[in-house]
Amino acid sequence: MGRLQDKVVFVTGVARGQGRTHAVRLAREGAKVVGVDLCDNIKTNAYPLATPEDLAETTRLVEKEGGTLISTVADVRDRQSLFAAVQRGVEEFGRLDGVVAQAGICPLGSDDPQAFMDAFTVDFVGVVNTVEACLPHLAEGGSIVATGSLAALLPGATDNPTNGTGGLGYSLAKRTIASFVNDLSIVLGPKKIRVNAVHPTNCNTDMLNSEIMYRQFRPDIESPTLEDALPVFPVMSVMNVPYVEPEDVTDTVLFLLSDESRFVTGMQMRVDAGGYVRNRPATPAF
Ligand SMILES: NC(=O)c1ccc[n+]([C@@H]2O[C@H](COP(=O)([O-])OP(=O)(O)OC[C@H]3O[C@@H](n4cnc5c(N)ncnc54)[C@H](O)[C@@H]3O)[C@@H](O)[C@H]2O)c1
Repeated sequence: MGRLQDKVVFVTGVARGQGRTHAVRLAREGAKVVGVDLCDNIKTNAYPLATPEDLAETTRLVEKEGGTLISTVADVRDRQSLFAAVQRGVEEFGRLDGVVAQAGICPLGSDDPQAFMDAFTVDFVGVVNTVEACLPHLAEGGSIVATGSLAALLPGATDNPTNGTGGLGYSLAKRTIASFVNDLSIVLGPKKIRVNAVHPTNCNTDMLNSEIMYRQFRPDIESPTLEDALPVFPVMSVMNVPYVEPEDVTDTVLFLLSDESRFVTGMQMRVDAGGYVRNRPATPAF
């Protein structure tokens, strides 16, 4: 018996990165997975997003685990296609037990107001859309997990113009997720549906491995590379690691989706190698 045996879980941003490692691990633990990904780029986001080939690779990896992934190319900002994707999964699998609102962008380094809007609509409105699409199908024991970010919990995130307009939108979205999770856990508690946030520090995915992100850590270099950024990455931890692996985040997501966490709700779960305590605000916001 897997830890999620016969559960059905909806995952956004499933084509690569953390969304992919979640899908593969959930399948290994006996879950059936329903997933969406944009599989296209967003103009204000400097690094490329996932491709249809990435999504096909996730499907292949899930099937290698003996699992099934019903996937749809859909934008989390597009409520109609998102709701249709969830409906399709529920019709196919007959139920829905968990949700992981994982899809995200990080359009740093731009002064375009659209970057602010794109970050906020993908990273926060996309989470709300995902939760709303899934909510009618979740029964007692259901679990909602939303992905925030350590960076957004730290001082200097929402009030630092050097992050650019997209960086401000990103931080606002992720902070709002933290509040949303707290309040929604109160709303859904009586229905025995749990709601938690997971806040990763630097995570070894394409989002981190992009020149625009390297520049955040090495503003002193014109075109920094991974080698330039690596010595500075550990500033986001106390354990002197540059980043966590997506599988480390998946371990926490798996726990939150499983019945092992049946009384864990309204939590801000940081997978941050201690990055928060190192840089924490005098008065924690959440
Ligand atoms: N990588 C990090 O260092 C880090 C740190 C903290 C938080 N996070 C968060 O983790 C989440 C996943 O990021 P990742 O690290 O796996 O990066 P990633 O870029 O590899 O994955 C993000 C996925 O979301 C998809 N996506 C983007 N916009 C979408 C949209 N509008 N609709 C549907 N799908 C969309 C992308 O195509 C991609 O497959 C994000 O919410 C991100 O903010 C990442």
